[in-house]
Amino acid sequence: MCGIVGVVSNKDVSHKLYEGLKNLEYRGYDSVGMCFLHNKSFLQKKGVGKLAEVQKKVNFLRFKGNIGIAHCRWSTHGGVTEANAHPHSDCSNRISVVHNGIIENYSKLKDELVKKGHEFTSQTDTEVIAHLIEDNLKGYSIEKAIQLALKKLEGSYALGILHADSPSKLFAARNESPLILGVGNNENFIASDVPSILGYTNKVVYLDDKEIAVLMKGSFKVFDLDGRQLRKKINVINWSREAAEKGGFKHFMLKEIYEQPRAIADTLNGRAANNHVVFDKEFGLSENYLRKIKKILILACGTSWHAALVGEFMIEELARIPTEVQYASEFRYRHALLDKDTLVIAISQSGETADTIAALREAKKQGVKTLSICNVMGSSITRISDGVIYTRAGPEIGVASTKAFTTQLSVLYLLTILLSKLRKTLNEGQVKSMIECIRKIPMQLPAVLHEDDEILRCAELYHKRTNSLYLGRGVNFPIALEGALKLKEVSYIHAEGYPAAEMKHGPIALIDKNMPVVFIAPHDIYTYSKILGNIEEVKSRGGIVIAIATEGDKEIPKKADHTIFIPKTLYTLSSILAAIPLQLLAYHIADKLGRDVDRPRNLAKSVVVE
Ligand code: F6R
Repeated sequence: MCGIVGVVSNKDVSHKLYEGLKNLEYRGYDSVGMCFLHNKSFLQKKGVGKLAEVQKKVNFLRFKGNIGIAHCRWSTHGGVTEANAHPHSDCSNRISVVHNGIIENYSKLKDELVKKGHEFTSQTDTEVIAHLIEDNLKGYSIEKAIQLALKKLEGSYALGILHADSPSKLFAARNESPLILGVGNNENFIASDVPSILGYTNKVVYLDDKEIAVLMKGSFKVFDLDGRQLRKKINVINWSREAAEKGGFKHFMLKEIYEQPRAIADTLNGRAANNHVVFDKEFGLSENYLRKIKKILILACGTSWHAALVGEFMIEELARIPTEVQYASEFRYRHALLDKDTLVIAISQSGETADTIAALREAKKQGVKTLSICNVMGSSITRISDGVIYTRAGPEIGVASTKAFTTQLSVLYLLTILLSKLRKTLNEGQVKSMIECIRKIPMQLPAVLHEDDEILRCAELYHKRTNSLYLGRGVNFPIALEGALKLKEVSYIHAEGYPAAEMKHGPIALIDKNMPVVFIAPHDIYTYSKILGNIEEVKSRGGIVIAIATEGDKEIPKKADHTIFIPKTLYTLSSILAAIPLQLLAYHIADKLGRDVDRPRNLAKSVVVE
């Protein structure tokens, strides 16, 4: 996914732009470029490939200039070529633009500009922005020209803009695409996310939609599209730069898997004690309202959608509120009818997933209350919803979501307890014991992580298999889906998740001696004996069984080829513990296959296009 960094400083900025782009590499990209403004003229370089490859060819670090913009591109309009890489310029090469997002009316704008004599050098939607500003510059200041140009754009944009005749100013703007300002000491930044500039400042301003920022080295101002100055809050971020680095692990994904005891402990911290659940002030929904809701609809994509399915199970089972889960991408085109007593919850690690944002907006149009569960402070989803519960996983850099998922489950569990308590579906004693059990989870996780040797053995034995099945039931059916997704995305091995009982309705035909089948089979009073039967069915057809079982289970190790144990906990909470061996299994298999684990092919960390 595209990423932007920009700096205006009292020193040369090339190192900061380079480091900023390096920190954005996790998003996935196909080309990079930078533009420096020096002595009122541009030095612009770009190329196709990873940052280090392009650096070898052009050596960005040799360029002078106290002001510059940089970009990594993940193609949407126009092929992967040097001409299509950002930055893009106008005809006179006095305006330089980097852009994330999609300009939906670019082709109409381009036709109009071409008729007026503008000459284009790329196939991108971005280039129209540079020409449009140039077109509006006649007779106006650059600030006014940017305002006029932006008013004509339809679609999403985060922009960094340089104007050669305004050599002390860096311009930025956003609409439906993330962009932050970083406030430094004698220098200011723009960036697509916080970790990319954390090495330089932890003071951040979140730009909102249709806002324009003008940054100089010692000050910044933010305006609306009519030029009215706005007051913006400076937020202090408490993520350290080290938190966003690998900390001795081979990959971010592995580091993030091992961080889960801390991430869950932080997520619970101050929110659950004795028989009380209290969320932070951003939660924003009154107890009175929560007592009255008649239905919950959860919207999300990918891994967050799997968390939503676990949430559905928890809320219906314990709080007894009818709950439905929909893919955000489907919901937005369904013309769904929402009752005003429905609470809509959006789950998103990044808070910037385009489909989830659009679905949330669609829900809001129908006048319902909305709550987001999100990991990134101040991200778009959190600003659209009426209330927010932050997962406190810290920056998740690996493209495959791990710690964000288990912290989402932890938050959903706390929310379930709160709802159950308010609606009196559980008594005080039950609430207290549920809180005790979730508070134990961070202490139980190291035991799960200690199972890594057996998991690594499975990876060594089976990493060359080309298919696998993941089977679970009840609250652990979504965990089967999540295990299969993890394997697919990081190892590129085909994997499918199914409710275990569905196996005999089709997938059983696939079982042979080459098929590893992962059973998520912690002990429970409902379906455990049925799952034992399913394991037999796989074994009798020659399949390979890897089972996740509760410690002390004597039956499963007799039947399975490999058993990975998780500690005893409540049935609903077994989903959190069971997710971790599946993350490790996917990681080790991908690593054995030499995959680019943190940046799997074709994937992006934040899917900010539809
Ligand atoms: C899978 C993964 C994706 C995301 C999905 C939604 O490991 O990371 O499936 O879960 O793109 O992203 P968020 O949660 O940021 O909305």
